[in-house]
Amino acid sequence: MTARTPTTTPAGGAGTTGMDGAAGRDGTVAGTAPPAGLTLDRHVNAADRAVNLARDVLTGLTANPRELPPKWFYDAAGGMLFDEITRLPEYYPTRRERAVLDGHAGAIAAACAADTLVELGSGTSEKTRLLLDALRAGGDLRRFVAFDVDESTLTQAGRSLIAAYPDLAVHAVVGDFERHLSHLPGGGRRLIAFLGGTIGNMRPVQRGAFLRALREQCGSTDALLLGTDLVKDPDRLVAAYDDGAGVTAAFNRNVLTVINRELGADFDIRGFAHVARWNAADSWIEMRLRAVRDQRVTIDSLALAIDFQRGEDLLTEISAKFTRDGITAELADAGWAVAQQWTDPEGDFAVTLATPSTAPSAAPV
Ligand code: SAH
Ligand code: TRP
Repeated sequence: MTARTPTTTPAGGAGTTGMDGAAGRDGTVAGTAPPAGLTLDRHVNAADRAVNLARDVLTGLTANPRELPPKWFYDAAGGMLFDEITRLPEYYPTRRERAVLDGHAGAIAAACAADTLVELGSGTSEKTRLLLDALRAGGDLRRFVAFDVDESTLTQAGRSLIAAYPDLAVHAVVGDFERHLSHLPGGGRRLIAFLGGTIGNMRPVQRGAFLRALREQCGSTDALLLGTDLVKDPDRLVAAYDDGAGVTAAFNRNVLTVINRELGADFDIRGFAHVARWNAADSWIEMRLRAVRDQRVTIDSLALAIDFQRGEDLLTEISAKFTRDGITAELADAGWAVAQQWTDPEGDFAVTLATPSTAPSAAPV
């Protein structure tokens, strides 16, 4: 257990949060107080972040083929670029998921009657307002817990949610959903939302581990709401990850900027081209950065030099695409029973409501 004592500012207080020096998306040291009224827990501080990034970069860049985990896209700049992606004409998932929530938030709220909405990988929590509104209309909603690895986006989202929902207790948790699920605030009837197709950014084995770990944290009155993109025409899939305006390319390259800043590396951002391709065998989109020429990159913090050959790829992200039955089967394997499943009218994107079933099939120790 790598848990740290979270620094918490009680709701309504503008007190200090202690100087644990957590780093925000912009790399600034955020020992700063969160906005008044926002409870903030930090499970990742600057030292943790540096160690984890160094480990992932060392492992990933020396592997064959080279690969980096996707969570490092998201600093302040990456968060803003992702927000731009969600508004691109080619990037349909956000609009389709919003359409599902628009049409069915009332049914979702009625089915779970949650008093607490927890959102994992919450980002701006924009679509989530449809759920908050429906749960509030149902009369049970008391609390919103936003959980994200990036503190700057989280506090910004928290600030606007507090303004829009003055009666709601807003609790922001800075953490890694692959490491810190056991620190999710408990109590009450919780609806745990994991939207945006973010689960598709994990490989199947990781997804299973994640869903089982989440199941372990949940009681019989909790529920999971999972947003997943569905398999469709590969041309549309690829276009969603390779837009004409080049925003996705900038987002992809942002991971190199993060490594330059935080590990003292000297990646030439223009030395890498954005590549998106559909891997039909694995049913996922792959995002790569391809060296446009031979080049050497040095990473001071790791005392490491890496030689890239022209045409060599660095895999930065996968985004898996699902079938409705596949989602149900994966959930069942991890101890979740599907209660209801919805798609948008075009059948592009699925939102699945599941509840804990008897026990996870492969109960971890
Ligand atoms: N849910 C939003 C944002 C999706 S983008 C939407 O549907 O639009 C993915 C979000 O997950 C980002 O905000 C990113 O910071 C966060 N994230 C990525 N990896 C994470 C991890 N390992 N732990 C916690 N948050 C993570
Ligand atoms: N969860 C999003 C998805 O898989 C993340 C995402 C969208 C993304 N566009 C991207 C990640 C481009 C990397 C690059 O759809």
